[in-house]
Amino acid sequence: MADSIDLLTQLAIKHGTDKWGLHFYTPVYDELFREIRLKELKILEIGVGGYGYKNFGGESLRMWADYFPNSRIVGIDIEYKELKLPANVHYEHGSQVDTGFLDRVARKYGKFDIVVDDGSHRPDHVIASFQFLFPRMAERGFYVVEDTQTAFWPKWGGTENGAKLLGFIAAAIQSLHRSEIRLAKPDYEPAEFLKNVKSVKALHNLLIVEKGDNSAPSYFKFDPDHPAAKFALQTIEDRIAAEPTPAAYAQYAAVLSQSGRVEDALAAIEKGLQIWNDEPNLLLGGFEIAKARGQPQRALGFITRLKAESADPLVDHEMKKLRQTK
Ligand SMILES: C[S@@+](CC[C@H](N)C(=O)[O-])C[C@H]1O[C@@H](n2cnc3c(N)ncnc32)[C@H](O)[C@@H]1O
Repeated sequence: MADSIDLLTQLAIKHGTDKWGLHFYTPVYDELFREIRLKELKILEIGVGGYGYKNFGGESLRMWADYFPNSRIVGIDIEYKELKLPANVHYEHGSQVDTGFLDRVARKYGKFDIVVDDGSHRPDHVIASFQFLFPRMAERGFYVVEDTQTAFWPKWGGTENGAKLLGFIAAAIQSLHRSEIRLAKPDYEPAEFLKNVKSVKALHNLLIVEKGDNSAPSYFKFDPDHPAAKFALQTIEDRIAAEPTPAAYAQYAAVLSQSGRVEDALAAIEKGLQIWNDEPNLLLGGFEIAKARGQPQRALGFITRLKAESADPLVDHEMKKLRQTK
C-alpha cells in the first residue's frame, strides 16, 4: 500500500513535514506539479518552519528540493534561521507582510513560478502577500495558500463566516468573468493584482490560484480575432476534415455565425446538408442562425424541413411563430 503513494508524499514523509499526515496536501501538489517537476523553476515558500528555534525547520524546503531537483527553492521566515539546507535551497529572513523585504527577494531571485504560503496564516497577511507577490510571479504559475481554515477563526484574525478569504476568492472569480460582468455593469474593473488569475480551486484547508492568460473571448461578446478563438476555429476545421459529423458541422456553423461570418455559417450548414440530407441537427442549426441573424425566410425554410424530420413540439411552435410574423 505504501508503494502506491505519490513521490511528493514519499518525500514529505522522508523529510518530516506536516504537509502529509496532519494535513493532506502533498497528493494534491503531486497531481498539480508532476508534469513540471523536472523543469528549472523558481519556487518560494513562505514559512520555513521551526518558529523561534533557529536550528530547526526546513522540512518542506528539503522535500521541495528533492522533488524539484532542477529548481531554485527559496524559503522565507520571520524568524532568524541557521539551517543546513540542500544546495538549491536559499533562506531569507523577513516577514511576509514586509513589502520592502518581499521586493528585495523578488528582485534577487526573479519571477517565481510557484509560491506556497505556509506562513502566519492570518487572513490579512495571506491577502497582503498575495497582492504583492502574485503580480510579480512568472506569467504562468501557481500560488498556493495553506491552512485556509484560519479565515474562519477569530483568534487568527479571521471571522466565523470567513468573509475576508471568501471575499478575496469571490473577487478572483469575478475577475475571471469580467467580460460578462461588463455586459451587465459596463464600468466593472477588477483589482489590478487579480487580472491574471486563470483558475481558482478551493480544497479542504487549501486554496490554489493559477496564474496565466485568461483573456479568451466571451461567448457573449465573441472576438474571432483573438488567438484562442482563431485556434479553436482552426482545430474544428481540421477535425471536420479528418472526421466529419453533422454535429461538428452544426457547431462549426455556430462559431462562424458568432464570429459575424453569417454567410459562411449558412454555407457550412448547406454543405453539411449535402452530405447528410435533412439531418435534424443541421436544420436546427441553420434555423437558429438564420433566425438570430434576421433572415426569417431562410429560417422558415430550415424549420419547415425540420418539421418533416422531428415531432418536437417546440419545432412546431417555432414554425407557427415564424409563419405568423411573416
Ligand atoms: C507552519 S510553519 C512552516 C512549516 C513548513 N513550511 C513545513 O511545511 O515544513 C510556519 C512558519 O511561518 C513562520 N511565520 C510566521 N509568521 C510569519 C510572517 N509574517 N512572515 C514569514 N514567516 C512567518 C513561522 O516562524 C513558522 O516557522
